[in-house]
Amino acid sequence: MSITLSIVTGASRGLGRAIAEQLLARGEHLISISRRAPEGLSSSRLQHWSADLADAGAVALRLREHLQAQGPQDFAGLTLINNAGVISKLAPLGEVDGEDLARAIRVGLEAPLRLTAAFLGATRGWATPRKVLLVSSGLGRRAMAGSASYCAAKAGLDHLARAVALEEAAQAHGARIVSLAPGVIDTDMQLQLRSADPQAFPDHPRFAALHRDGQLESPAAAAARLIAFLDRSDFGANPVADVRSD
Ligand SMILES: NC(=O)c1ccc[n+]([C@@H]2O[C@H](COP(=O)([O-])OP(=O)(O)OC[C@H]3O[C@@H](n4cnc5c(N)ncnc54)[C@H](OP(=O)(O)O)[C@@H]3O)[C@@H](O)[C@H]2O)c1
Repeated sequence: MSITLSIVTGASRGLGRAIAEQLLARGEHLISISRRAPEGLSSSRLQHWSADLADAGAVALRLREHLQAQGPQDFAGLTLINNAGVISKLAPLGEVDGEDLARAIRVGLEAPLRLTAAFLGATRGWATPRKVLLVSSGLGRRAMAGSASYCAAKAGLDHLARAVALEEAAQAHGARIVSLAPGVIDTDMQLQLRSADPQAFPDHPRFAALHRDGQLESPAAAAARLIAFLDRSDFGANPVADVRSD
């Protein structure tokens, strides 16, 4: 029997957890990748792979071998959702510890790059519909002071999607890829933004206001919009998109 499998990073909480819950609810099989397991989710169709995406080599190899051990006949559809992301200390670049900066790039850009390479490499030429979603941000397109590593990682995801889309368009049965800004969502990441030192982070008032004025979307609502975007027949037509406007 062939199954629909999604691989979701950062599904332990926030947006990723809501995506995982909704994909499981519609009968999909799921591999979740993060340090902790998705809170309160259990299903015979859910496998959790515990991994620190700051060091993604081993888990990328595991994904490649897992998919290679099976064949296209085993899957009705395959989707990789690179959702995990982190923010370094919110402050001017020269005031942030180097390890903190490196972690943001490793989790936010290097890990998606390596997992996407493993996913595409293991399934190259398969006629199974294959999709890759990179969870980006408006901050990949519009710079913000005090968050240079995050802005750089998200801009990197956008251009990664553009380049891979060109490669896949040249393949028979190429995969479709989109780097998608998901909107503003009420998660731990927003808490981190509005808890930052306003002296070091000039946009602090904007994030405080988003919360105060009730403008943050719930993780469940944001996940539903993201999944509806993934389901669109024209998914991948534009490799860089915003769920709010495209
Ligand atoms: N929230 C927003 O308003 C907003 C806006 C634009 C874009 N985004 C993007 O949406 C995505 C999800 O954000 P969120 O708000 O849901 O974030 P969040 O609540 O902070 O959750 C982050 C997720 O990433 C995982 N993660 C972090 N570091 C990791 C590591 N070293 N190894 C493995 N997994 C790691 C966490 O799992 P563990 O801690 O268990 O490892 C967690 O599941 C991110 O890419 C973010 O940049 C969010």
